[in-house]
Amino acid sequence: MLYKNNKLLIDKISVDKIIKKFGTPVYCYSYDQLKKNIVKFKNNFNKFNPIICFSVKANNNSRILRELSNLHLGADVVSKGELILALNSKINPKKIVFSGVGKTFEEIEFAAKKKILLINVESESEIETIKKVAKKNKKSIDIGIRLNPNVDAKTIRQITTGKYSNKFGLIEKDTIKLIKKYKSSKYLSIKCLSVHIGSQITSHVPYLNMLKSIQKIIDKTKFNFEYVDLGGGMGINYGENRRNLDYKKYSKQIEKFIEKNKVKIIFEPGRSIIGNAGYLLSKIIYIKKTTKINFIILDTGMNDLIRPALYKAFHKIIPTKRKFGRIFKKHEFVGPICETTDKFLSTKYYQKLNEGDNVVICDVGAYGKVLSSNYNLRNNADEIIIKNSKVFKIGENNTLKKLINR
Ligand code: LLP
Repeated sequence: MLYKNNKLLIDKISVDKIIKKFGTPVYCYSYDQLKKNIVKFKNNFNKFNPIICFSVKANNNSRILRELSNLHLGADVVSKGELILALNSKINPKKIVFSGVGKTFEEIEFAAKKKILLINVESESEIETIKKVAKKNKKSIDIGIRLNPNVDAKTIRQITTGKYSNKFGLIEKDTIKLIKKYKSSKYLSIKCLSVHIGSQITSHVPYLNMLKSIQKIIDKTKFNFEYVDLGGGMGINYGENRRNLDYKKYSKQIEKFIEKNKVKIIFEPGRSIIGNAGYLLSKIIYIKKTTKINFIILDTGMNDLIRPALYKAFHKIIPTKRKFGRIFKKHEFVGPICETTDKFLSTKYYQKLNEGDNVVICDVGAYGKVLSSNYNLRNNADEIIIKNSKVFKIGENNTLKKLINR
């Protein structure tokens, strides 16, 4: 994204022109950025060629998933819905892992019939359910055991998953117990030890601690895992603090780990693949100036992007027409929803803006559209993609019609 003659371009296309054609609010994805992210991700770990299972929960647009499948990515899914979508998008079932604490008998049976790579189990009750499915269908099922390594991921409290206070995975003692109990089961084949300690992680240190916990399990059980699934969580730079995950250090740690353990590594990245490839384009409906604050009222709200309201997440907002000079007054970018938390960003100053101007909310490719709702009975934003210098719609949004007529 850059300015040319003070007009904002995404992949060399004028954002104002895109808006003229597709309206606002609209989620706009850059195929080039998506591809760049994947190439970079692969390069970071090229010493051991991991299986990369894109975490579908981050973005489930079927066109995007098809592009990812063409770029040879697998999928990490957490429901039957995501699994069907991944399969329909031609993602290789042998590159699909199924995570989640509450998989039902029906979901497990469906996944087993589709012959996916692994079901990552998170409790003994779930293992028993998987056993029942396998017995019923007279076919053994490949599983991973998800360890909760009790590691502080040093990220936003709401998105940490690898502490004992979190519902995810099995604590060390239970992991060991279950490996011993089920290692020669007729109906289960333990193939993998998996972890996922949280999201938006920007330090390699939690990952180092995570690897130590995994090593402990391997040492204590002496079990030969074929795979170790390290989950996702790699943070991106949203621009508020410029800290970046040191991939070199993380990769080095893993290289050392596999020298010792000879396993195939699986990753489940979401945000690092799609986060910075998505933009939310919006128009300023009104500017309400009070003595202390300029409220910039956008035509998109927390129903389209809930991250700021839910996690106080920071997303840059950039005007499509650059003007020099700043107005030193508090600016609050808000949406039209009747909730005080319907607020995107507060700044101490901003360039001059006018009603009717367009802005871009950045880095919304992951956990943007997927978390949207129809709150206040608003339609969801459409989605478009820029690929090979063309812009086109991906997916249709007619939920509002359905809701009004229900
Ligand atoms: N694997 C598992 C088992 C997960 O639970 C998640 C994310 C991922 C992989 C992908 O993590 P990533 O690479 O995207 O960090 N809605 C929150 C993020 C929730 C993450 C949930 N799990 C947000 O908007 O920040």
